[in-house]
Amino acid sequence: MADAGTAAPRLFAATAEAELGPTGRPPREIPEPAPLSSHGPAKVIAMCNQKGGVGKTTSTINLGASLADYGRRVLLVDLDPQGALSAGLGVAHHDLELTVHNLLVEPRVSIDDVLMRTRVEGLDLLPSNIDLSAAEIQLVTEVGREQTLGRVLYPVLERYDYILIDCQPSLGLLTVNALACADSVLIPMECEFFSLRGLALLNDTVDKVHDRLNPRLELAGIVVTMFDSRTLHAREVMSRVVEVFGDTVYDTVINRTVRFPETSVAGEPITTWAPKSTGAEAYRALAREVIHRSGR
Ligand SMILES: Nc1ncnc2c1ncn2[C@@H]1O[C@H](COP(=O)(O)OP(=O)(O)OP(=O)(O)O)[C@@H](O)[C@H]1O
Ligand SMILES: [Mg+2]
Repeated sequence: MADAGTAAPRLFAATAEAELGPTGRPPREIPEPAPLSSHGPAKVIAMCNQKGGVGKTTSTINLGASLADYGRRVLLVDLDPQGALSAGLGVAHHDLELTVHNLLVEPRVSIDDVLMRTRVEGLDLLPSNIDLSAAEIQLVTEVGREQTLGRVLYPVLERYDYILIDCQPSLGLLTVNALACADSVLIPMECEFFSLRGLALLNDTVDKVHDRLNPRLELAGIVVTMFDSRTLHAREVMSRVVEVFGDTVYDTVINRTVRFPETSVAGEPITTWAPKSTGAEAYRALAREVIHRSGR
């Protein structure tokens, strides 16, 4: 029979852990988002990390879909020639005639020629494919090359509440274009040691863009993805991230689960593919935090 004297402290420890949440802090109180009576102007958020495969695209799709579920009008911009954002939303991007590439390099193409609705109500997409890989070279000789994306998005700012830009894993000209027109940068970060080093370089770039091109730019927050609380390594990296970045780390943490790779194959967000899954609930919680922090 369990001895009451030893059972009680164990119970207490379990409760304390639950109260602390995966970041090791007590989760902040986040209210349910209020419905909006009017829309725009959009908060532009660059989803950025030059490290590959950290969950930028997955977070763009699922945060976008969750914001749309809360009645926000959302535009997703695929700024990666891999076109994973477009593919993840079920768009046959290889066959598209007009993409973000045309928008960036051909002044006669208007944003409405490229805009697409998705299957999620309130969620639109500017798709891309491999054509975009030429843009970095084509833009180099342009005057105001870093502001090209900002210029093309300007006409639709009033239509949306959020514009999320899915950046490629580099800090090249396309990513600088995203940072130059963004209000904030949201950094998805895989919970492993080498990710921490990359964040210092990313912060340098964000500071430079802030000082030289876009004084509005701020850090929206860091979201830890692919977290596995069972490994000591993940818990150690998490506590280091919270130590260094403090309150900018979202309380919401995205756990590692095979449901996400499944959704890429299905070509839809986890919020429609498996709406009751913990992954879907996590991105809804992230959306509540993003809405709360941005006040939109
Ligand atoms: N929470 C998660 N759990 C398990 N797998 C995940 C999770 N999030 C993303 N993945 C998977 O990890 C891979 C990389 O994710 P994703 O494409 O979102 O990263 P990325 O940062 O956009 O990559 P890239 O730098 O190549 O653009 C994908 O196969 C995706 O399905
Ligand atoms: Mg990606």
